Amino acid sequence: MNILHIDSSASAHDASHSRRLSAEIVERLKAANPDADVTYRDVAEARPPHVDTTIREAWSEDAGAHLKDLAERSRVMVEELKAADVVVIGSPMYNFTVPSTLKAWIDHVAIANQTFRYTANGPEGLLDGRAYLALSSGGVYSEGPAASADHLDTYLRTVLGFMGITEVETVRAEGTALAPDAGQKAMERAHLRIDALFA
Ligand SMILES: Cc1cc2nc3c(=O)[nH]c(=O)nc-3n(C[C@H](O)[C@H](O)[C@H](O)COP(=O)(O)O)c2cc1C
Repeated sequence: MNILHIDSSASAHDASHSRRLSAEIVERLKAANPDADVTYRDVAEARPPHVDTTIREAWSEDAGAHLKDLAERSRVMVEELKAADVVVIGSPMYNFTVPSTLKAWIDHVAIANQTFRYTANGPEGLLDGRAYLALSSGGVYSEGPAASADHLDTYLRTVLGFMGITEVETVRAEGTALAPDAGQKAMERAHLRIDALFA
């Protein structure tokens, strides 16, 4: 089994709810699959470049030699995703959606004829496998008045589904900013969810 583990919080491991949860999910997967290979990509630490004019040029077939390294970086990210049986994504909510670093990674991997293709019947995902989302947010979005403002879980599910990964489980530490002990309580609820997922 190939596991692709991605983190995107701008907080360090011990201070990050989403990093701690994604690491725990990977540990559970490894416990159930001792031979699993894990590829780790920290997009906050090693930021994929924004897809700008230079990157678009690097992706073109007649790109100059000076752009080969950039094209290779994108190609490696696509290959890592294509090789994954399970994708584990740790993401905090930043302004109602994913951090821009994670969005940049998505822009590198959602590539026509690599991870999806256009057909006469519309777009078709070329990946399979499953995904676990380890999400954290200061407020509560799984239910209640802010539910319609959740562009984190819904967005990641849309993008993964677009590429063919439709079996997705979400673990949330939410409401981390609501009270002094809210982070700890949110993590306790998230751990119960992980226990249930891997029971
Ligand atoms: C730049 C930034 C933007 C944020 N935007 C939101 C937001 O839109 N909604 C929310 O509920 N929390 C927001 N938060 C709070 C984080 O989602 C929350 O602290 C979360 O627990 C961080 O995850 P982490 O502990 O894995 O870093 C934001 C935090 C930062 C640093």
